[in-house]
Amino acid sequence: MITPKVPKIIFGGDYFPEQWPEEIWKEDIRLMKQSNVNMVSIAIFTWALLQPDENTYTFDWLDKVMDLIAENGIYACLATSTAAPPVWLACKYSDVLPVTESGQRIDYGSRQAYCINSPTYRKFIRKLAEKMAVRYKDHKALALWHINNEYANKNQMCFCGNCEKLFREWLKKKYKTIDRLNEIWGTVFWGEKYFSWDQINTPKASSGSRNSTKLLDYKRFLSESFFTLYLEEYDVLRKITPDIPVTTNFEGDWRKFDHSLFKDHLDVVSWNCYPDPANPDSRKWAALRHSMMRSLLGRPFMIMEQAPSQVDWYPVNINKPPGLMRLWSYQALAHGSDSIMYFQWRASKKGAERYHSGMIPHFGEDSRVFKEICGLGNELEKVKDIVGSDIDSKVAIVMDNDSWWTVDNPYGSAGSKSLDNETFWNANAQPFPSVLVSYFGELEYYFNALYDLNVPVDVIPVHYDFSKYKIVIAPLLHMIKPGFKDAVEDFVKKGGIFVTTYFTGLIDESVGVYLGGYPGPLKDVMGIRVEEYNPLPPGGRNAMKMAVKLDGFKKDYGCSVWCDVIHTTGAKVLAAFATDYYAGSACFTENQFGNGRAYYVGTRPDKDFMRDFLTKILNDQGLEISDLPEEVELMTRSKKGKSYCFYLNYGENEKTIKLPSGRYEDILTGTICERTLTLAKYGVSILRSKWH
Ligand code: GLA
Repeated sequence: MITPKVPKIIFGGDYFPEQWPEEIWKEDIRLMKQSNVNMVSIAIFTWALLQPDENTYTFDWLDKVMDLIAENGIYACLATSTAAPPVWLACKYSDVLPVTESGQRIDYGSRQAYCINSPTYRKFIRKLAEKMAVRYKDHKALALWHINNEYANKNQMCFCGNCEKLFREWLKKKYKTIDRLNEIWGTVFWGEKYFSWDQINTPKASSGSRNSTKLLDYKRFLSESFFTLYLEEYDVLRKITPDIPVTTNFEGDWRKFDHSLFKDHLDVVSWNCYPDPANPDSRKWAALRHSMMRSLLGRPFMIMEQAPSQVDWYPVNINKPPGLMRLWSYQALAHGSDSIMYFQWRASKKGAERYHSGMIPHFGEDSRVFKEICGLGNELEKVKDIVGSDIDSKVAIVMDNDSWWTVDNPYGSAGSKSLDNETFWNANAQPFPSVLVSYFGELEYYFNALYDLNVPVDVIPVHYDFSKYKIVIAPLLHMIKPGFKDAVEDFVKKGGIFVTTYFTGLIDESVGVYLGGYPGPLKDVMGIRVEEYNPLPPGGRNAMKMAVKLDGFKKDYGCSVWCDVIHTTGAKVLAAFATDYYAGSACFTENQFGNGRAYYVGTRPDKDFMRDFLTKILNDQGLEISDLPEEVELMTRSKKGKSYCFYLNYGENEKTIKLPSGRYEDILTGTICERTLTLAKYGVSILRSKWH
């Protein structure tokens, strides 16, 4: 359960009463009751209201809001307001503002215009968190803390003098001596040797490509800075309100900081889920991110925000047509969310987000969107039993920020160019074999192939424990860090199946290439050595010719993007390339290791191969694949021996599903089903086995 104060599915949204006159608040309460809202996120961007100057704190406004919701049985997910520093703070202390790579200070005038390492900003947020915690610690409405808002969304990658100073300290702690730093960074290359700590700058643009290890270390430093920033508030709240759970809402994009750093200091993972209704693969996009969020703590998470209809930041923002908001809400529950919340309660009249949908649209309560909100909010009463139930995945995909940061390179080498914030943070920007290679793209490719087989998958940070899984897949794990080799070998020896792909195991944790063949430390468990690689040009193709006959496999499959030239040192060749100078050499191998097996896929296979290969290893491990009509998804949550099977139809037409034997009750309708289930367009059924 997310908070003992709300022992049901949490339903509500970001509530900004500060944008409206008080007479509207009464209307809000009436409509919240009508739609069965039980929690609202408040005070997200109200720092300026709560602290009009350095020495004055005024809580009258927030007291009124807190009292009003409490009187009406609604709970507060109380934000700490720190995502939008007040103008007076920036005017008085300019060091709170971030500085771009080219030295420009970003001005105030929007939210998130702060340097994540600014001691001034940090001092003020600690104080504000303390004032809020002391004031509301015994308030009936306080059910959950919401620290800041969506770290890294618009935060700039900062290059100010203070960040530079802290970066040096961080490096000193890590490398102890400047000689060691020079060795690890490989500064002998291009004669970049540093003679003292104060010569070290942030990795700004220079005349050509920058030092790769320095760049990676800077991203690691900033990633940790987000975490220590969070701790500034977390420690205060934990001390004053030890029984109130704490969260911060993640963006759903893992690139800018390693979310696993937060793991031991989060009571619940929450995230903001905004799939694009115009994207036919939106359900996969959301499923992957739900899995990432659920796997972080291995327990139910929260949807802190989703759009009631359209957003305002895709190039074209189409509406969610009737029924889609409900369907996607149930998808979140199916994947382990115990909440459905929205941005935002009432569509804004003013400000940058006025074209973003709200639970109450500009049109008012008599609108399609509000009617759908009411329908869902009231229906959720029927599913409160699922709260706290888990998803038992036996397949894990591992994810690693360092591999991501050293691979993704869609823009090519940056050379001497200054980079805009997004490019810098999201890309490797280094000389690299191919702009067509994408770390997260490969991970997504494997996830989607498993999704198409209706297999529940955890997406776990690379250093998590593998023991509960039967299959572990590490797509394109470019960097192999200490401990990973032993973890994989142990997992496989005990009977696990491990899968990895091309361009895995190239570098160690300091970006030094493993010599003697890839995938570096995984050579033994894989039973191969990769001698060289050949990235294929855009549209370039090769084929994988099966070398052995395997049940359920075709004779050959197409492939693209990349070809590894592989020597086997114990592994069996299952398929070989069809063309090029390496025709006939292995592209897909299997290695028996202890009681388990390790598979290497040295290319990007077409989808039919993915289906056949994954089906084989799932069958080999005795894992179930549900045979469902196209566009139907099944996810099962269980608790205390009870199972809840979520069937979701994303198709435009009715679908009939063959059920496993038994009698089931649809908890949404009370209908008893046997043998088949019919789902209307965008239909949802949650089946509970009748005789449990
Ligand atoms: C993010 C923010 C919200 C709002 C929405 C709009 O998730 O956290 O404050 O801006 O985007 O989609």
